[in-house]
Amino acid sequence: MPLIAPSVLAADFANLQRDIEMLNDSQADWIHIDVMDGIFVPNISFGLPVVGAIQRHAKKTMDVHLMIEKPENYVEAFHALGAEVISVHYEACPHLHRNLQQIRALGCKAGVALNPHTDVRLLEDVLHDIDMVCLMSVNPGFGGQKFIENTYKKTQQLKNMIETAGTQTLIEIDGGVNAGNAGQLCAAGADVLVAGSFVFNSDRPKDTIRDLKSV
Ligand code: DX5
Ligand code: ZN
Repeated sequence: MPLIAPSVLAADFANLQRDIEMLNDSQADWIHIDVMDGIFVPNISFGLPVVGAIQRHAKKTMDVHLMIEKPENYVEAFHALGAEVISVHYEACPHLHRNLQQIRALGCKAGVALNPHTDVRLLEDVLHDIDMVCLMSVNPGFGGQKFIENTYKKTQQLKNMIETAGTQTLIEIDGGVNAGNAGQLCAAGADVLVAGSFVFNSDRPKDTIRDLKSV
C-alpha cells in the first residue's frame, strides 16, 4: 500500500486548520508542504510562518518540499517547525551531497526532488545518502497540472537502481496524481503518492484519500 501525502497547496488557506484536521482524521500518512520562492520556480506559495501554523494542528508526518534556491539556509528552520522529511531540488543544489548530510544530521529524512527533465541516473553516486527521491510528474510551481506520462518509465528506472544498490530509498511521485494513474505508479515502484487538487477538489476528500491508498 502506498503512503498518501495530500498537498496543502490545494487546501483552503482561509480554513487551513479545518483542512489539516480533515487530514488528521483521514487515512493520509503524511502532509505534503510545498514551499516556493518565486526564483527557483515561477510562483510563491508560503514560507515559515505558515508551516508553523500547520505544525500547531498537524498530527501526521510533515513532508516539506523545498522548491527554493539555497535550501541550506532554511532547512534548520523548517526542521524546528516540525518537518520530518525535507526534500531539496537536484537542480537547485550544486553541493547536493552536503545538503543531504545537513538534513540527515538534523534527524530528518533527506529527499531529493527531480524535475521532469532530470535523469534519475544522476543520483547514482549519492543514492546511499538519500532517504527519498521525489519524482516530479509535472513542472514544479503549480498545482492542478496534467500528469507527465514519462514518469512511469522514470519510476521503473529508479526502482531498478534502488534494488541494485540495495538501499531503502523511497520513491515519491508529485504532480497530477489521481485514481487513474496511482495503480500504474505503484506497480512501477512508487512508495509515496502526493495529491493536491485530486484530494482537495473532491466532494469527499477522506474517501478520495482512502481510494488512493487502496489502488
Ligand atoms: C507542484 C507541487 C505539488 C503540487 C501537486 O509544484 O510540488 O506538490 O501541489 O498538486 P496536484 O496534485 O494538484 O498536481
Ligand atoms: Zn510538492
